[in-house]
Amino acid sequence: MSDLKTMCDACEYIGKKLPKYPIIFEIGCTYVVNQDNLINTSTNNIIQQIVIPKNGMLYSFDINSDHINICKRMLRDIGINWSEYMDFVFGDSIEMIPIVVEDLERQDHYIDVVLFDSKEHDEDHMVKEFEGLKDQLSEKHILMVDDVINPNSIKAKKMMPLLQKLGYEMFIVPTETGLLIASMGYKL
Ligand SMILES: C[S@@+](CC[C@H](N)C(=O)[O-])C[C@H]1O[C@@H](n2cnc3c(N)ncnc32)[C@H](O)[C@@H]1O
Repeated sequence: MSDLKTMCDACEYIGKKLPKYPIIFEIGCTYVVNQDNLINTSTNNIIQQIVIPKNGMLYSFDINSDHINICKRMLRDIGINWSEYMDFVFGDSIEMIPIVVEDLERQDHYIDVVLFDSKEHDEDHMVKEFEGLKDQLSEKHILMVDDVINPNSIKAKKMMPLLQKLGYEMFIVPTETGLLIASMGYKL
C-alpha cells in the first residue's frame, strides 16, 4: 500500500479487494477536468478501476447540475458510456442519500465503497452524510475520505477521529490533498 500515490492507484487497490457487483457511492463528482490529471480525479477512476472490472454500480451525488454535466462530458470524452455504469443523483447529499439508501434497502442491496468529497467549509456535513448511509453499508466495506491533509479544507476534520473510534483500519494515500482509505472487514 506504500506505493499508492494517486486516486487511480487507490481505486485499483480497492477494486482488487472487492467481490463482484459492488455498489459504490461517490459524494461529489469530478468537475475540474485537466487532461494531465485524470489519474487524480474520482469519477473516471472509480468507473475504470472498480465498476467496470467488477461489474458494479456507481451512484454519484452532486448538488451542482453544471458539475454533473461537465462530469458526463468528461466521461464521454474518454470513451466511457457512463449510463451503463452509473446514476447521477442531483441535489443536496444530506437529502438525497436517504432516498437512495431506502431504495437499496428495499432491494436488500448494500454499499461496498463510499468516497466522501463534497461540501467545503463545513466540518459537520460529511459526518451527516456518513450517518445517512451507515446502516446500509455492507458488513465488509471501504470508505475513502478526501482532503484529510489539506490545510485549506476542514470538511474531513471530524471523520478520521470518528472512524478511528468506530474501529476502522486505515491509512492515508499521499495525494496532494491526502486521501484516507478506511476499511471495515478488509485487511489493508
Ligand atoms: C471537490 S469536488 C469533488 C471532486 C471529485 N470527487 C474528484 O475527486 O474529482 C466537490 C463536489 O461536491 C459538490 N457538493 C458540494 N456540496 C454538496 C452537497 N451539499 N451535496 C452534494 N454535493 C455537493 C460540489 O458541487 C462539487 O462538485
